[in-house]
Amino acid sequence: MAEKVLSVNNLVINFKTDSGLVQAVRDVSFELEKGETLCIVGESGSGKSVTSKAIMGILANNAIIENGSIIYEGENLLEVSEEEFYKIRGHKIGMIFQDPLSSLNPIVRIGKQITEATLINSNKLKLLYNDLISHDLIAYKNVIAKRNIAIANEEKHLEQLVAASKNEDLTAEEKAEYNEKIKAKKAEISAFRKKINAETKEKLVPLKAKLNETKKAAKVQVKEYKAKVNADCKEKIAKLNEELSSAKSEEEAKKIKEKIAAAKNEYVNSLKITKAEAKRRALAIMKEVGIPEPERRFKQYPFEFSGGMRQRIVIAIALTANPEILICDEPTTALDVTIQAQILELINRIKDERKLSCIFITHDLGVVANMADRVAVMYAGKIVEYGKSEEVFFDPRHPYTWALLASIPDVDSKERLDAIPGTPPNMIYPPKGDAFAIRSKYAMKIDFEKEPPFFKLSDTHYAATWLLDERAPKVEMPKIVSERIKNSLKGGAQSEQR
Ligand SMILES: Nc1ncnc2c1ncn2[C@@H]1O[C@H](COP(=O)(O)OP(=O)(O)OP(=O)(O)O)[C@@H](O)[C@H]1O
Ligand SMILES: [Mg+2]
Repeated sequence: MAEKVLSVNNLVINFKTDSGLVQAVRDVSFELEKGETLCIVGESGSGKSVTSKAIMGILANNAIIENGSIIYEGENLLEVSEEEFYKIRGHKIGMIFQDPLSSLNPIVRIGKQITEATLINSNKLKLLYNDLISHDLIAYKNVIAKRNIAIANEEKHLEQLVAASKNEDLTAEEKAEYNEKIKAKKAEISAFRKKINAETKEKLVPLKAKLNETKKAAKVQVKEYKAKVNADCKEKIAKLNEELSSAKSEEEAKKIKEKIAAAKNEYVNSLKITKAEAKRRALAIMKEVGIPEPERRFKQYPFEFSGGMRQRIVIAIALTANPEILICDEPTTALDVTIQAQILELINRIKDERKLSCIFITHDLGVVANMADRVAVMYAGKIVEYGKSEEVFFDPRHPYTWALLASIPDVDSKERLDAIPGTPPNMIYPPKGDAFAIRSKYAMKIDFEKEPPFFKLSDTHYAATWLLDERAPKVEMPKIVSERIKNSLKGGAQSEQR
């Protein structure tokens, strides 16, 4: 079975706004397997970016995570402390945004922006120390973070009550009722604070003691490491010096001298990455992402780069941290079609070479076809269809997936696309039942009343539409979609024969 690197479970995210609560993500679950690309596709406003921002821990301040978990390496990212979150998302989960300009600093040279991350983490002795103590430090900090999250959650409920009580349409009686509720909630929070503070204090005592022990041991280990690196290097250089003294020719001596210089350089960099080394690595990554003349480009500013080149720089910056997961949120939307294809190719190549797991967000099913191993189709804050790429492309089941497929412009025939009628719903008042029903000619009465469950089509393919219920009338997908599927299957067979 494929290894799972990330799982999002029953995620519910609302935003508090002046006009009401925006229900941006409504019970979303999916998994990311090692080395795969999962494409999340859907129209504007379907909740794609909010979902990925939740994974990165960069949701706007007015976000309320009502429910769910995001599990990475056994930790719930929604529960860990900021420090641990930073460690994970800084080092292991990288993200590339739609607009490369907004993620670059316009007044800092490109080279500096790429080496920055490397240099921040350049002190290897410090990194080693941090690594050694991180488990116990995180355990300690998480207790504090969990208390803070619990209190913040209680306070958010209070804020919601206060906001609701200010509604001008309320009767005097209702207002009084709210005021009572607010008073009760305040008392409840105060009691809750006392209780949780006491509990937290008690939990922290043994954790603090353990952390202090670990710190002591870590200091010793770091010292030993430094001594060992030092001794190894000295030994190596002594040996080389011996060889040098018995060198038989100028040329041989020169080679040995080079080796000595390399050994010294290695020694320096194994304690702390120097600026020169950071630059060497940056140039290598710039080359990896296809930036010509990296030496010259290194010294330039963002405005001196084209849109496509800027996006390559952003990818380079994400790669310096050596991530395991790369989240790409519409990374090519701002680019023209040919450049778009090049960036997609680059992401695919890097993903394979570095064995990354990738979440790729787009509203363009045409892009999905070139990237995805698996596809999640999102509509109005929910996943409505989920399956392997070939399942969703060749055996789509949700009317929304059909509509998306019908709307892809055909490259060969330039056939007019079938735009999806209507607009996505206002997420302050998400429709009851199947949210797409109002825009779908396949909608049945039940679609307006009751939310469809996920119907299982295979071990890997699911769709949430009442059309899959055994009581539903048999409905064929739109002709334009079935024709396209037939044509692309035929095309595939032909190209295989060729
Ligand atoms: N900070 C916020 N405050 C209020 N509402 C928000 C906030 N951020 C996002 N939303 C709302 O959440 C919903 C989902 O937004 P999201 O950005 O995830 O859409 P998306 O699928 O990424 O769309 P697009 O393709 O346009 O990028 C939208 O209705 C959006 O208006
Ligand atoms: Mg978005």
